[in-house]
Amino acid sequence: MKIISAPLALKEYLKNSKKRVGFVPTMGALHEGHISLIKQAREQNELVVVSIFVNPTQFLKGEDLDSYPKKDEADKKICELSGVDILFFPHAKDIYGEDEVSLVAPNIRGFVLEGSSRPSHFNGVLTVVMKLLNIVQPTNAYFGKKDAQQLNLISLMVKQLFMSVNIVGVDTVRESDGLAMSSRNTYLSLQEREDSLKISSSLYEATKMIRNSILDVKIIKNRMREILRPLEVEYVEILSREFEYLWHVEVGNTVILVEAKVGKTRLLDNVWL
Ligand code: PAJ
Repeated sequence: MKIISAPLALKEYLKNSKKRVGFVPTMGALHEGHISLIKQAREQNELVVVSIFVNPTQFLKGEDLDSYPKKDEADKKICELSGVDILFFPHAKDIYGEDEVSLVAPNIRGFVLEGSSRPSHFNGVLTVVMKLLNIVQPTNAYFGKKDAQQLNLISLMVKQLFMSVNIVGVDTVRESDGLAMSSRNTYLSLQEREDSLKISSSLYEATKMIRNSILDVKIIKNRMREILRPLEVEYVEILSREFEYLWHVEVGNTVILVEAKVGKTRLLDNVWL
């Protein structure tokens, strides 16, 4: 595995490659969720590039930028064992300069749900993903469905800006008890770890109601809020896959999304129906 930290060196290295390149952008502290993206990239491409970059512009003031988990050595091992060809490990100064051009998330879809409590978050995500895609110029880029709004906005950016990369959404990987894997799960105390299960339980209950033909969005959301009650719920939404509001669940075209704070940790989860 080759480790490269200079963006232009990576660009140069990839310039003459005629190979099909699969790209997995991450912020490190890799877990099984990231590994499943890498595996899919490995299966579908000749060359696999993973980036590890804790992107400062997607964190708001007071968020966990400085304490974000860092596991560089373990991450390198995981990448090597997962068959990654190139690990891109840039420094912030090589990605951002002064007086920067930046992207702004779309007015509506970028500032609801996670974008409502974290207004500049998706501007930072789109800006860094655009930069990373321009450096790597992959055939396919892999993103988790766990961050459904992020995946939706990146797909929108690629379509609206006529970019040629193919965006692939990958299913959420969970712990055996249902908690969606996340680098931030390491922040949870034992009690919080137990409380966090209310998030996946609420989604499981919603799925069960829908299987029993209860499709009214209001009824399902109320039941989910009952299950989530002890947590500080940021939102519970039932939307179409294009993120439009629905009155009734449309099986095959629905995403149910939850964001809740467990202690100080903000956790996201969703199911695609
Ligand atoms: P990060 O949180 O490190 O996640 C990297 C990728 O892994 C994202 O596409 C995310 O959706 C996916 N992922 C995380 N947990 C997952 C799980 N349990 N199952 C499946 N996929 C999972 O998301 C980011 O980094 C950043 O915003 C980034 C896109 C790298 C831009 O900075």
